[in-house]
Amino acid sequence: MQLFNVYPLYDIEPVRGQGSYIWDKNGTKYLDLYGGHAVISIGHTHPHYVQKLTDQLQKIGFYSNSVQIPMQEELADKLGRLSGYEDYHLFLANSGAEANENALKLASFFNGRKKVIAFRKAFHGRTAGAVAVTDNPHIVAPINDNTHVQFIAFNDAEALEAAMNDEICAVIVEGIQGVGGINVTSGAFLQKARELCDKFGSVLILDSVQCGYGRSGKFFSHQYYDVQPDLMTTAKGMGNGFPIGGVLIHPKFKATHGMLGTTFGGNHLACAAGIAVLDVMEQENLIENAAIVGDYIMDNVKSLPGVKEVRGRGLMIGIEMENSMEEIRKKLLFEHHVFTGYAGKTTIRLLPSLALKKAEADVFLEAFAGLLYAEKVAV
Ligand SMILES: Cc1ncc(COP(=O)(O)O)c(C=O)c1O
Repeated sequence: MQLFNVYPLYDIEPVRGQGSYIWDKNGTKYLDLYGGHAVISIGHTHPHYVQKLTDQLQKIGFYSNSVQIPMQEELADKLGRLSGYEDYHLFLANSGAEANENALKLASFFNGRKKVIAFRKAFHGRTAGAVAVTDNPHIVAPINDNTHVQFIAFNDAEALEAAMNDEICAVIVEGIQGVGGINVTSGAFLQKARELCDKFGSVLILDSVQCGYGRSGKFFSHQYYDVQPDLMTTAKGMGNGFPIGGVLIHPKFKATHGMLGTTFGGNHLACAAGIAVLDVMEQENLIENAAIVGDYIMDNVKSLPGVKEVRGRGLMIGIEMENSMEEIRKKLLFEHHVFTGYAGKTTIRLLPSLALKKAEADVFLEAFAGLLYAEKVAV
């Protein structure tokens, strides 16, 4: 059987990872500034994480949501404390798309409506509900009917005000757009969204799948402002590579048995991974580190030749180049052995582990500056 060929792949086969580095099968060492799409939060193979998962696997790896799994409560307690949302409830899922799917369902159960407002360049995942609120027609199949979704300009409070009414079920927005190019949602916009959702009885959903879990330098990126969403979705960094997602739910939403459900969500191994991530984030002050090292990188790339704009917060960084960034990214990877991501044709996307050290950032900064100055001389 052949694999269904949907991914363009680099000819690199990682076989080992440690901290912010990975090694391929030939022994070549790479600095990982992408974390496999923002997933590696505490670093590859962190000893505490490996120990927790190994210990758990030796006891019991899985049972479904029909028995007591106290680790779910431990995870919820830790998450509530670290995020500052202690009075919210947690529903555990397996991925970002699934978290958003459940958030949209909860919103719809709550107010009985189905119209949703989403934003230009939004990405919320590929399952039916999540892809319907994603602004990319190429990945929306005819079956993912999105006639109930209205896309409006990102960060446009006036457009949102004009679109809102008492038929709107939910407004779903990323705290910082990731796939769309590292666009930071403004405080004024979020405050307006909060106000309008309150006025019309709509639900404010903050998709924090990519920008959440400490990446922005706060636990959630919207915590730079005085705004409380009704629902927040998480995944990616939550398990440092173990599939886990979640919805943080305001106490006004009342749970009933069977309302939501999943076979794998909240299993023993996923909880062990989730707890280990939060332990390390807290013990090693990784949120503060993300803020400090993120600022350091942004300050140092801003004035390099060919850099048009630097966007983001913490270790969620978009470097928009004046021209296509493809050659630079290739050179970073194949000549300097630095993994980066991209968003569109001109933006380099950095999503490293939150434990990235300044000295590791310097490896990138030196290589990047070297390439850009060499290019400038060549022109
Ligand atoms: C903001 C955002 N939401 C949702 C998703 C979907 O997450 P997953 O791929 O885990 O389903 C992503 C993935 O990139 C994302 O960036």
